[in-house]
Amino acid sequence: MELTAQQLRGFNGSDAGKPIYVAIKGRIFDVSAARNFYGPGGDYCMFAGKDASRALAKMSKKEEDICSSLDGLSENELGVLLDWEKKFEAKYAVVGRVV
Ligand code: HEM
Repeated sequence: MELTAQQLRGFNGSDAGKPIYVAIKGRIFDVSAARNFYGPGGDYCMFAGKDASRALAKMSKKEEDICSSLDGLSENELGVLLDWEKKFEAKYAVVGRVV
């Protein structure tokens, strides 16, 4: 499945009948099993329907960091992102790509 960033936003948990997606480096993970984290009111709801790569790398929940850009990230931050990627791969299914 290929989704634009705008289409991805439709899977932000606001519609209980639809899955919740979070992307890392353009790969879309189905995080519906963790609706408690990513659904409305969840601690990590700001990542739902987004490519959260930059925010995950920086351990940030700031609006301005919630994007796919890896520009200027340190080696350490890129390592943190890789750890997140591995955690997501182990826990969630990849369902597509952001195009
Ligand atoms: C005081 C700060 C924080 C504490 C105590 C904390 C604690 C936790 C705990 C206990 C979990 C559940 C882990 C599990 O059951 O697998 C979790 C999940 C998570 N945390 Fe934090 N966290 C903090 C800050 C942050 C920040 C700043 C970010 C920003 C990137 C973040 C991103 C995440 C994400 C994305 C998950 C869900 C991972 C998944 O889908 O399994 N956390 N956190």
